[in-house]
Amino acid sequence: MPISSQIELVTLLEISKALAGDKPLDRRLFAAMRVLAEYLDMRRGTVTLRDMTTGELGIVAAYGLTKQEISRGRYRIGEGIVGRVVKSGAPVVIPNVGDEPLFLNKTGARQESGDRNIAFLCVPIIDNGDVAGVLSIDKLSTRVQTFDAALSVMKIVAQLIAQTLRIERLLETERRENESLRLELKGRYSLGNLIGASKGMQEVFRTVLKVAGSRATVLIRGESGTGKELIAKAIHSQSGRAAKPFIKVNCAAIPENLLESEFFGHEKGAFTGAIAARRGKFEAADGGTIFLDEIGELAPQLQSKLLRVLQEREFERVGGNRSIRVDIRLLAATNRDLESAIREGVFREDLYYRMNVVPIFLPPLRERMEDIPVLIDHFMRRFNEENGKHVSLGRKAVSLLSQYNWPGNVRELENTIERLIVLSEGDSIDASDIPVHVTTAAAESPSGLAATVQSLERERIIQTLSSNGWIYARAARSLGITERQLVYRVKKYGIERLDG
Ligand SMILES: Nc1ncnc2c1ncn2[C@@H]1O[C@H](COP(=O)(O)OP(=O)(O)OP(=O)(O)O)[C@@H](O)[C@H]1O
Ligand SMILES: [Mg+2]
Repeated sequence: MPISSQIELVTLLEISKALAGDKPLDRRLFAAMRVLAEYLDMRRGTVTLRDMTTGELGIVAAYGLTKQEISRGRYRIGEGIVGRVVKSGAPVVIPNVGDEPLFLNKTGARQESGDRNIAFLCVPIIDNGDVAGVLSIDKLSTRVQTFDAALSVMKIVAQLIAQTLRIERLLETERRENESLRLELKGRYSLGNLIGASKGMQEVFRTVLKVAGSRATVLIRGESGTGKELIAKAIHSQSGRAAKPFIKVNCAAIPENLLESEFFGHEKGAFTGAIAARRGKFEAADGGTIFLDEIGELAPQLQSKLLRVLQEREFERVGGNRSIRVDIRLLAATNRDLESAIREGVFREDLYYRMNVVPIFLPPLRERMEDIPVLIDHFMRRFNEENGKHVSLGRKAVSLLSQYNWPGNVRELENTIERLIVLSEGDSIDASDIPVHVTTAAAESPSGLAATVQSLERERIIQTLSSNGWIYARAARSLGITERQLVYRVKKYGIERLDG
């Protein structure tokens, strides 16, 4: 093979490498032109593309031009040589730009007197039979290379560019499809702020929608952090009362002696410190929804009072004798085992039946593991947005988070994701960033080959650490991993130095 065609091949290979990869398109085109510039002895080069919507031509990447020169280079089809190439789809060679009247010199780049010796070569970029744009170069015309040779290399490069554009377009379509799929999924897997893909949660969503319109009392059960409050809010916002108040009272957080007044209000002078009359939460919720959270913690005396109110639908303020009637919808939640509280005599059975008109049970997260990835996605988006970040989660990290059994349920998962995003330094979170208690729990039940590999790895780490005097940097080097990775594994396997 003659040397010149060998160089040509290497050049084309370099150019196709430059065009591949995941950098933005303009950066890749620029890199490709830099390679081409060296080979063709070119002064300037531009890739001009047609805007799909406006049809206007614009320089997408330029080599040897200033920003100002680029911004001036907007051609309309049919205008100047670039326009002519776009229109005809055939290459144009101007051996000497100084002699060419069609030459618009729109960018104003060719001002030097030396421009007499400059040739202009322009080839179309043909994509799917359409001219998508042009590749053009300014070349010193005194060089030995013939224009034909330069032109044939440019045609190949234009083809490579066309191919790049095609791939780009496919990726863009795929991105858009993924996005709309995601939105569709989100539509199906969410109810307001509630996310859930599992059968259990879908069932919960259905119940919420069914009962929302009625006035039925709903008792929401579930472990801590499973989303009971979120469900109460969803029922309210899906109901005809959505525009009216949603009032929450936490029965566990307010001292017993104050709770009655908190519920029903008090008249002036009802007790020491009652210097003015005050409305209670039941009055505040008139027309809307009252949500009694932690109902299982309600003191027996108040259980009786509440029961009476639910039966008679009216109450008096503390220290008052005027009956007050309100239109409220009652929701209650508890993570307590009410049935055994009844058996132990600490929760009134009759109140239980009053509350338990429609029970909703929220399954713990460990019983609906398929919700974890959807929830992760939801929280990643939310906390990225809140923190102005663009952090993504590696595959391995997702898998570790998905294997953990989340004793603190959705709240724990939510907090973990927020912490990961807030503390992240780069743009991605990988397995080594995941909290150790999560990874060790995930590693606790590996099976078969994975278990074998892990125990071998653990042994090897202990051996290497001990033969390197437990100096982490040295051991890591000898294992061929970073010190950070070593620290992570030591924690993961719970390795301790026994010889002190
Ligand atoms: N299905 C879900 N989709 C999105 N976020 C959820 C979901 N379930 C719970 N969360 C979030 O998890 C956190 C805990 O939820 P919530 O306060 O409703 O739980 P809870 O059952 O009332 O817990 P506790 O018994 O401890 O009061 C909240 O920040 C909530 O937004
Ligand atoms: Mg709660």
